[in-house]
Amino acid sequence: MLNRFDARLSRRSLLRAGGAALAASAVGGGSLAAPGGGDLVEVELLAKQRMQRILPEPANASPLVTYAERFPGPVIRLRKGQRLRATLVNGLTEHTSIHWHGIRLSNAEDGVPFLTQPPTKPGERHVYEFTPPDSGSFFFHPHCNTVELLGRGLAGALIVEEEGGPAFDADLVCMIKDWQLDKTGAFGAFTSDRGASRAGTFGSVSTVNGLIEPVIDVPANGDVRARLYNVDSTRVIDLRVEGTESGGGAWIIAVDGNPLPPRPLDGWPMGPAMRLDVIFRAPKDPGKTLRLTNVYSAQPKPLAVFRSVGTALPNKRFAPRALPAASIPQPDLKNATVVPMAFSATAVAQIFDDALLTSLPFADSLCLSEKTFWAINQQSWPEGGHERLPPPITTLEKGRSYVFELANLTPHLHPIHIHGYTFSVLSSDLRKVVPHHADTVLLEPKERLRVAIKADNPGDWMFHCHIIEHQDTGMMGYIRVA
Ligand code: C2O
Ligand code: CU
Repeated sequence: MLNRFDARLSRRSLLRAGGAALAASAVGGGSLAAPGGGDLVEVELLAKQRMQRILPEPANASPLVTYAERFPGPVIRLRKGQRLRATLVNGLTEHTSIHWHGIRLSNAEDGVPFLTQPPTKPGERHVYEFTPPDSGSFFFHPHCNTVELLGRGLAGALIVEEEGGPAFDADLVCMIKDWQLDKTGAFGAFTSDRGASRAGTFGSVSTVNGLIEPVIDVPANGDVRARLYNVDSTRVIDLRVEGTESGGGAWIIAVDGNPLPPRPLDGWPMGPAMRLDVIFRAPKDPGKTLRLTNVYSAQPKPLAVFRSVGTALPNKRFAPRALPAASIPQPDLKNATVVPMAFSATAVAQIFDDALLTSLPFADSLCLSEKTFWAINQQSWPEGGHERLPPPITTLEKGRSYVFELANLTPHLHPIHIHGYTFSVLSSDLRKVVPHHADTVLLEPKERLRVAIKADNPGDWMFHCHIIEHQDTGMMGYIRVA
C-alpha cells in the first residue's frame, strides 16, 4: 500500500509525535514526474466499513467507515507545488464521492455528486487529480449521506506543507470528533428531527484522533505545531492549550490553513469543518503535560494531554513566527457587488413522503433527508421542484468581486462553507472581526457577517452550513460562477 513514512519529517519528530502516531502516518511520496512539472503523489482511498474500538471494554469495537485502516486516516502530506492523484475506491453499499474541503481546485475535481461529477457507485473507482494552490491544513469527506458517513468517521486530512516557513520540532494532526455511540459501541441515530431543526444531534463521546483523552507525546522543550481540526458534524468547540511554561498557551498561526499573524488561542470558536493551526512550547521536563481543553460549554471538557518526552531540546526564546503569506486572489472591494445571503428556518417544515421522493428524478441528487427545516435566501435545496438540480442561489460573473452579506436570521450557530474559494472575512455587526481568510465561517445567532471573494474560479460551487443535519435539511445551495 501507499502507507509509508514521510522522509521530510525529521526522524525525531516521527518518533516523538507519536501519541496517535499520526505525524508518522503520512501517505504518499510516490514521486513521479507530473505532466505539468513537479511531482505527482498517488494515493488510493478505499472507502469501506472497518471495525475500530472507540469505547473501552466491555463495549465492542464500532463499525466505522473510513478511507484507511484506522480513523483518522489517511493523512496525506504534499509539499506545495506537488500534484495529487487520488483514486477513490467505493467499498460501500451506496454511491459516494470525495470532496476536498478548502482546496481551490477546478470544479470537476470538487466531488459533489450530480453537481460536479456522476456519483461513484459501489465497486467503482474515481480518480481525482489536482495541484493545491495553497499550503495549509485541509481535509476530505463524502458529500452525500454525510450525516451517517462522516458520523461513522469517513474523513481524512490533506496537508500541504508551505515552503520556507518557520521550523517546528513536531507537526501533529488532532482530529476532534464526537461519536453517536451507545454503551455497547453500536451507533445510534445520526440525526433526529429535534436535532436537525435546532442545534443538531450531539454525539455521546468526544475524541481526538478517535481516542478518548489520548496522551500525545511531544518533544520536551520543543515548539509543537498542532493542526486542530473540528471534524464533528455538530459540535462547536473553543480550544485552549493549558499549562504551558512559556508563551501563555498556544498561538494561532493559521485559520482553515490560511496564515494568520500569530495571536493567542483565546476565544476562536470552531464550528464543524473549521481548522486552526497552533504552535505551543512543550514543557521542559520529560513527563510533564499540557492539556487540550474545549471551553465552549459551561463545563470545560478535557480532550487530550500533550506529554513531553525525550531529552529537553536546547533553550530558546518562544517566539511564534508567521507562516509565509497566502496567495488568495484579492477581491476588489471598491467595485464589489453586494450579495445578500439570508440563513433562516423554513416557515413550515416541508415533509416529502416516500412516494413523492421516489417519483422525482432529482430526489436522489438532493442528498437530503426527507424534511427541510432551513433555507438560504428562502430557498431550500429541493423546493424549486426542478427536474434535476435547483437553480443556483446566485450567478456571479467570472473575474468580478463580490461581498456576501451573510445574515443569520436564526437563534442557532451556522458554520457557513463555500467550495472552491477562500473567503476574505471582513466585518460583523456583532463583534470585532480579525481580518482573515477562511473557507468556513461561524455565523453567530442573529449576526450579519461580511465576506468577500474574487470570482475567478468558474463552475457550480456548493455553499452550505457544515452542521451536517442543517445541510441535509435545506441549508444548502450552490453558486454559479460563469
Ligand atoms: Cu466540507 Cu460541502 O463540505
Ligand atoms: Cu447550520
